[in-house]
Amino acid sequence: MEKMTREEKYRYIEQALPEELERLKEKVSKSPWRQKYHIQPQTGLLNDPNGFSYYNEAYHLFYQWFPFGPEHGMKYWFHTTSKDLAHWEEVGIAIKPGGPYDSHGAYSGSGIVKNNKLYLMYTGNTRDHSWVRHPFQCLAEMDKNGLITKFDKPVIFETPPGYTDHFRDPKVWKSDEEYFCVIGAQRDNKTGCIVLYQSKDLLQWNFRGEILTDLNEFGYMWECPDYFEMDDHGVLLFSPQGIEQENERYNNIYQSGYLIGKPLNMESRAFEHQPFQELDKGFDFYAQQTTETPDGRRILVGWMGLPDLEYPTDKEGWAHCLTLPRQINIKDDKLIQRPVSELALLRKKEKNINISVDNETKQLEDFYGTAYELICDIEDIKADRVGIEFRASNTEKTVLAYDSVSNKIILDRSLSGQPLGKKNGSIRRCSFDAQTFKIHMFVDVSSVEIFINDGEEVFTSRIFPSQNSKAIRFFAQKGTAKFKAVKWDY
Ligand code: FRU
Repeated sequence: MEKMTREEKYRYIEQALPEELERLKEKVSKSPWRQKYHIQPQTGLLNDPNGFSYYNEAYHLFYQWFPFGPEHGMKYWFHTTSKDLAHWEEVGIAIKPGGPYDSHGAYSGSGIVKNNKLYLMYTGNTRDHSWVRHPFQCLAEMDKNGLITKFDKPVIFETPPGYTDHFRDPKVWKSDEEYFCVIGAQRDNKTGCIVLYQSKDLLQWNFRGEILTDLNEFGYMWECPDYFEMDDHGVLLFSPQGIEQENERYNNIYQSGYLIGKPLNMESRAFEHQPFQELDKGFDFYAQQTTETPDGRRILVGWMGLPDLEYPTDKEGWAHCLTLPRQINIKDDKLIQRPVSELALLRKKEKNINISVDNETKQLEDFYGTAYELICDIEDIKADRVGIEFRASNTEKTVLAYDSVSNKIILDRSLSGQPLGKKNGSIRRCSFDAQTFKIHMFVDVSSVEIFINDGEEVFTSRIFPSQNSKAIRFFAQKGTAKFKAVKWDY
C-alpha cells in the first residue's frame, strides 16, 4: 500500500482536504471487518489506550488516534466513556496536538482525579526543523462538563541527562499524599528503562531517578510503563522493544509484560522482582494500561495491535481496536487476567451443548457465529490433542488446541483468512500443565480474545476471516474428550 508522505501524516484535522474525512468514513464503513463490540476508530489508526480512569460516575478511556489513515502520524487523544465497562460511547477528540509543546502529536499518558477534576498527563511530541524529536511531559484538566483545558507549559520540560529523546508515556498514581509517575525511557547507551518522578501537586515534578531492576540490558526502549501494588506485591508493566525471540517467548515484533516483586522502594527506587513475564501469548497485544475501579478492582486494557506491521484493514482506511477490559489478580507470582464480569451485560441469545468427541471433529447445527462469547469446559481428556476450530468454513479456520503430549496450548491462525504478520509466524504456543482445560473466548468480527483456565493464560489476536466463516467445531485427536459449552451471541 502506498504510504503517506511526512506532510500528509503531520497534518491537523483542520487541514483535512474538502470532504476528505467524510469520504474516508464512507470507505471505512464498507469494511467487512468492522468490530461489533470493541472500541475502534471511525477512521484512521488507533493505538495505545490512554488516560483510563473513573471520574464523575463514569469510566473514561482515551486512545491514541491518527484520523487520516492507517499510519502513525499526528496523534490525537480520542475520548470514549462508559458507565459499565461493557457499553462504550464515543465522546470525540479530547486532546488536540498543535501547541508549541505538542506540535507533532499528543502522545500517550494517563489520568488521575484530583479536586473533582480529571488530570491528563501526556507526552507532547515535537520535532524541530531538522526533524529531531523533543518530548515534553504535558498536563490537561477535564472538568465535570467534559471541558478539557491544556496547561500552557509542560510540567516536565527537560529530559534528564543520560537519556535520549525517547522519553514518554507518563503514568501517574497517588500514594499517601504524594503523586508519582513513571516514564518510559531510553538511556544514552540505547538500552530501555523506566524513570520515576514525584510531585505534591501534579504541577511540580521532581526527578527521582531510574527504577532499579535486574534488567539492565533488555531491549532498546521501554514504552508505556505502569506501576501498581496489590496483595503486598509491586507490579511494573511495560512494553519493551528490541527483545530477541527465544523459542516460544517473544514471538511478536515488540513485547508487553511485567515484573512482579516486592513493593517498589520509593526512596532507593530498588525493585526486587521475579523474571519478566509476557502478559499475552497471542499475536496482537501491546501498550496496556490499568486503572482501579471504585470497588477496588485493577482493570487492564491493551491495544489489540502492534506498531510497524501491516494489517488487512489498512487498505480500507482504518486499523486496530482496543482489547476488552480485563480484571487483574495475582496468583503464585503471576498475573491472572479475566474478562470483567460486566461484559455479561452484552450477552444475547444463549445456546448450550454437551457432547462427546471420539477421534473426530464435530460441528453442530445451530451452533456458530461471528460475534459471541463462548465458555467451554473440556473434560475427561483421553486424547493427544483436543480443541476448538472457530470462524471456520471449508477453507478457513482458526484453531485453539491443547496438546497433551507436549503439554502446550496452541493458537494457529495460518488458515484464519486474510494473512497478516507472516514474518512473525502464524502459530503461538505456550507451556501448560493442568488437569483441566477451560476456554473462555470472545470472538468479534475480526478478533479473538481467549482466556484459558480462568485467566492463567491469555491469547489476544486479530483474525480476518470471510463473513461466512462461522462454524464452530470441537475436536479430539487420537482419543476422546467431553465438551460442555455455552455460547452467547453479542
Ligand atoms: C506506543 C507508543 C508510545 C507513544 C505512542 C505514540 O505504541 O509508541 O510510546 O506515546 O505510541 O502514538
